[in-house]
This record gives sequence, C-alpha cells and structure tokens, in this order.
Amino acid sequence: MNRYYLTTPIYYVNDKPHIGHAYTTVAADVLARYRRSLGEDVFFLTGVDEHGQKVEKAAALRGVSPQAHCDEMAPRFQALWTRLGIAHDAFLRTTDRAHKDYVREALARLHREGLIEPRDFEGWYCTPCERFWTEKDLGEGKACPDCGRPVDLLAERNYFFLMSRYAGAIRDALASGRLEILPVYRRNEVLGFLDRGLEDLCISRPRRRMGWGIPLPFDEEYVTYVWFDALLNYASGPRYLAAGGPERWPADVHLIGKDILTTHAVYWPAMLMALGLPLPRRIVAHGWWTFGGAKMSKSLGNVVDPGEVLSLYVPEGGERPSREALRWFLMAEVGFGNDGTFSLEALERRWTADLANDVGNLASRVVSLAHRVLGGDIPLVHDPSDDEAMAAYATAMDGLAFARAAEAIVGRARALNALLQARKPWENPPDAAEVLGRAASGLRAIAWMLSPFCPESARLLANALGLAESPGRPDAGIVERVRVGTLDPLFPRPPAIAARLASAQAGAGESKTGGKAGGVSVTKKEKAVMTQQGSGNMAAATTVAGPAEMPDSGDGGPPVVTIEDVKKLGLRVAVVTAAERVPKTERLLKLQVDLGTETRTLVAGLATAYAPEELVGRRVVVVANLQPATIRGIESRGMVLCAVDGAVTALLAPSSEVAAGSEVR
Ligand code: MSP
Repeated sequence: MNRYYLTTPIYYVNDKPHIGHAYTTVAADVLARYRRSLGEDVFFLTGVDEHGQKVEKAAALRGVSPQAHCDEMAPRFQALWTRLGIAHDAFLRTTDRAHKDYVREALARLHREGLIEPRDFEGWYCTPCERFWTEKDLGEGKACPDCGRPVDLLAERNYFFLMSRYAGAIRDALASGRLEILPVYRRNEVLGFLDRGLEDLCISRPRRRMGWGIPLPFDEEYVTYVWFDALLNYASGPRYLAAGGPERWPADVHLIGKDILTTHAVYWPAMLMALGLPLPRRIVAHGWWTFGGAKMSKSLGNVVDPGEVLSLYVPEGGERPSREALRWFLMAEVGFGNDGTFSLEALERRWTADLANDVGNLASRVVSLAHRVLGGDIPLVHDPSDDEAMAAYATAMDGLAFARAAEAIVGRARALNALLQARKPWENPPDAAEVLGRAASGLRAIAWMLSPFCPESARLLANALGLAESPGRPDAGIVERVRVGTLDPLFPRPPAIAARLASAQAGAGESKTGGKAGGVSVTKKEKAVMTQQGSGNMAAATTVAGPAEMPDSGDGGPPVVTIEDVKKLGLRVAVVTAAERVPKTERLLKLQVDLGTETRTLVAGLATAYAPEELVGRRVVVVANLQPATIRGIESRGMVLCAVDGAVTALLAPSSEVAAGSEVR
C-alpha cells in the first residue's frame, strides 16, 4: 500500500488559533482525505510550536509558567480542529519528551561532526520574529524584512549551524525538482535568495536571556528554540507518533504559508543534508487571508476566529452545514498560492451558489424524482462526462489546486442540473430512467469528489444513494443500480448574516450585549464578531481571489476578480441565424444562434433596440456556459452581451468576421 506523509506547520501557542491556521490545516485535511480515498496509508501530522520568546512572553503576561500556558493553549488548537472536522493522525507538541530527545540527539550529532560551532557574533535581531538578520538583509529603514518592525543590534556568543556549505546542494535539489516547490514562482524566489549568498544559522540563545527552549546537549547554558527545534518535528513526529515509525520519512508534502518558505526550503533541507536524511518531496506555500482589507493582526483587531464564524450560523442539522461550508469556502474561493480576503458575505455567496444551489439542489432533485418517477430504484447509466470530471479533479488534487478541484465538482453538478432541466424526467417518464440514471451516476462521482472537502455531507449523499458509508472512487467497483433512500437538505442556505451585520454596523455603536444596532437586531454572538473586527468590516469586505497586490475596486462597483474568475466565463462569438419576437412581450426576442459546433436558442431583451430581421446574420458575443433558464416557456441557453448607456442598448460584436464559436478572452 502506498504511504503518504503530509504535514502542516506547527503553530505558535502565544495566542489562540485563527482562520489562517485553520486554512493550512483544512487544506492538509482535504489532501489527507483525498489520499485516503485512493486507498493510501496516510500519515497526517500537525501540532504546536511551544518554545521561544513569543510563548515565554505570552505566559509572563498572563502570570503563568510557559509550560502551564502551553498546556492550556494546545487543547484549544485540538478543539478547533475537531470542530472543523480535521482528521489528523497525530498532534505533536514540541514539549513532548520524545521530540525534545530527538532534537538533542540531532544537535549532539551535528556538534560531534563539527557542523555546529560557537562564535562571537553581532547581528540585527527582530524580537517578534525571533530572528537575527544580517546588515544586507535589512532595508534602508533598519526594519525586519519579514514583519517590518524595528530590529535591535545585539552582540553575544552563540552556536551556529554551518548552513552556508549546503547552498550549492540545496540549489541543485531545487533546480532539478528533487525538492519541488509549488507554486513554481516561489521556487524562483528561493533560488534568488540563495543567489544572494547563504550564511550560517544561529541556532541558540543564552539561557539567561531566553530560557524557554531545549538545552543544548553540549552546553547547558544555551537553549535551542524556534526553527531548529520546530523544523525537526517533521522528522521526530513519525518516530514516536506513527505506526510506520522512522520509515515514514521523507514527507511527501509540507503545506505551509508563504511567510515561512525560506525556513522550509532552505534551512530545513540544509539540516536534513547535514543529518544524512532524505529531503521532503514537495513544499507547497499558500497565500494569506486578509480581513477587512488588512493583514490579520491582533493589534488591528481584525483576527478572524473560525469558531466564532461557525457559531454565527446556527444551522439546522447541527454544525455540519456551516462547518462544511467554511471548509468549502476556504478551499474553493482562492487558488492555493494566492491571497484572499475573508468576509462573511463571500462565505455566504459561495455557500449559496456552489453548495445550496448546485450540489444540494441536484441531490434533492434526484432523490425526490427517483421516488416520484421510478419508485426509488435507479439503474445507473454511465456517462463519460463523469470520467472527464473525475480526471480533471484528480489532476487538480494531485497538484494541490483545490479551487480547481472544487470547480470540477460544481461544474459537474451544474451540467447535471441542466440535463434535468432540459430533459424534464418528471414530464417525460419514458426518458426518466435514462436521465435519472445518468444523474445518479454523476452524483456518485460527486459524492466521492466532495468527500475530502465536505466529508459528512458526502457521506449523507452516498447513503441517500444507497451506497457505502464513505464514498470511494466510483470506478473502483461496479454498481448497476441504486436503491434511493431519503435525504434531508444537504446544504440549507445560510442565514443572511453578512447583510444584517452590515446594516447593523452602519448604524452601530449603541449596544454592547446584543439587541438593536442601526435598527437591526443583533445577537450577542454577532455583536462579538462585530467588535472583534474593529474597523475591519467582516460583513462588507468583498472577495479578492487573487494576488496580494490586487486592490479592491473600492468605488462601490463590482468586486475585483482574478483572471481565473474571468476564465470561468465561456464567452463565444455566435452568428444569429433566426430571430423573432416573443409573443406578448415588449422587450424579448427569441434568437437562434450558431456557435460553430451547435445551434442554440436564447432569449434576449433586445426588442426595444433591434428589429428581429436586423439581427439575422450578425455576429454577437454570448455567455455560452450560462445555466439555462426558462423564460416565457422558452428554454434560453446563453446570454447576449450588450453595452447599456441609459436608454441606448448596443450589441457587442467582434470588429472582423471571425468564425462562429471563436473564443472571446
Ligand atoms: N511556528 C511557526 C512554524 C513552524 S513550522 C516548523 C509559525 N507558526 S504560526 O503560528 O505563526 O503559523 C504559521 C502558519 O499559519 C503560516 O505558515 C500559515 O500556514 C498559517 N497562517 C497564519 N496566518 C495566516 C493568514 N493570515 N493567512 C493564511 N495563513 C496564515 O510560523
């Protein structure tokens, strides 16, 4: 059985977990569940990073010992992971005895081999990041390159790991793809970093200055902390927390945020090379979530607590719908690697569109039609489109392109909804077995594809189709017919909390404990979220699924979209072959258009601007992948694009005679 080992970063316990931590962990969980669904023996490791100055300070502020602080914080992370449906195999704490022993063994060995040595040293130190920087790393303003805060010049004797000697070998590993970095442009960033010259790495702190670390085995006056301690969790974890033990190493993939790429793609390979261990196969760096237009930070008061978000949407059926909608949103909204803006509005939008309207609606239609038309028994009909969707999905999942995988799921659901709409099995019983057979077969594929993202809902869906407990890849076993059971709404629509909060916020201020704000009733929980966001407006922030640099439109116009969003629109040139008025309407025309490969009927609101005969032979631009709609009894499959200037409506058209079906981009 193929083994698969994946990790998340281990999170600092100086504060409670937030949506950024949840993001990496949900992504890892989705990947782990996907690999398990392929029958692999998965080991998914996550945990917490408990040593170092940040934690020491947080404990001191609360007047408790660092260990007591960690003992309180670690369960908070675990509790949140349970609430988010995370099925990790192990949870590592860097204060675990076995981890500390492993770190001390590694240190002793590198010291024995002359790869760690003491040096008198002067450097620029960033206290919040717990890192020394060289003169060359700092910009004009003597600020930390990572967090931008001021750095202090510090002189002391410390121990150094002779990392610089591995620069060439790391470069080779990256250039050859032996260690793969995704997205690819991040690899180039790391290569650029190496080109600027790699220095040795300070790995100790004098105990008198910072005591909360692991004592060096060869000099107990010093401790090692943060990176040397933390990175080794990936190798120590499997030894004492996994069934396969040390043989689990190397990791197949480390999932991390872009903020910690250098430590993972440079320090960590150097440490592994020095220890004679193989390198991980892949490192994937995702982007950052911002909130209310700013990077989340405690001082800005715009840190999103995923637990509070779940609590806001008190759903039917317990927390499953909101938990799974949040997981879905995080994965589907933004391409892994890009930055995104978190907002309740965007969460609700995606929940409604993808889960309630596309997947949920399809599931309930098929289940109820199966009973109504076929007595609950559906002979499955194989449709090659399912294989295509599953292949696209698998390629995306293998490349950790979660948003693309999600797109394959909703794309299939939309196509099947369109099939039902077009063939109307409720009106046409002789055709019903074929149509519902295809739809049920598609739903089986959807249940499998959905299972890593929304595991409980996928299970309910599979059960409603009379299939096994946890949906496996459908082509793994042959099922000829399914006996359909019952299904409560898979994804009830979310309550419109974003809109309520936005209007409450507009006139807010008065109530501290719930009650009325701006004329809108707000619950205590909602009030807490409004307060927590401070100026970052959780409800009103729009979604930016793109690079960090991309601004919001900011003018109250439509939200900024990425090129990926634009690509979702199937814009095509079509030639109008016939046009006639829709009876008893003033505005509507029924058009036949030639799309190159097919002829379509669509209904367009053009009658006040164009006579039908004027249109025949014209080239127009249509949205060809629009969900079909029935308008005045006519099924319209597409939309004609026009410019609208007050009362003037003008058709958009290509400026030369391109072929029908040409792509518009
Ligand atoms: N303890 C180190 C990691 C050691 S790994 C050997 C650390 N911890 S952290 O608590 O700061 O968490 C870092 C990780 O949390 C990031 O790499 C990223 O995975 C995630 N995120 C934290 N804030 C985030 C956002 N605002 N958005 C997305 N993810 C972010 O660094």
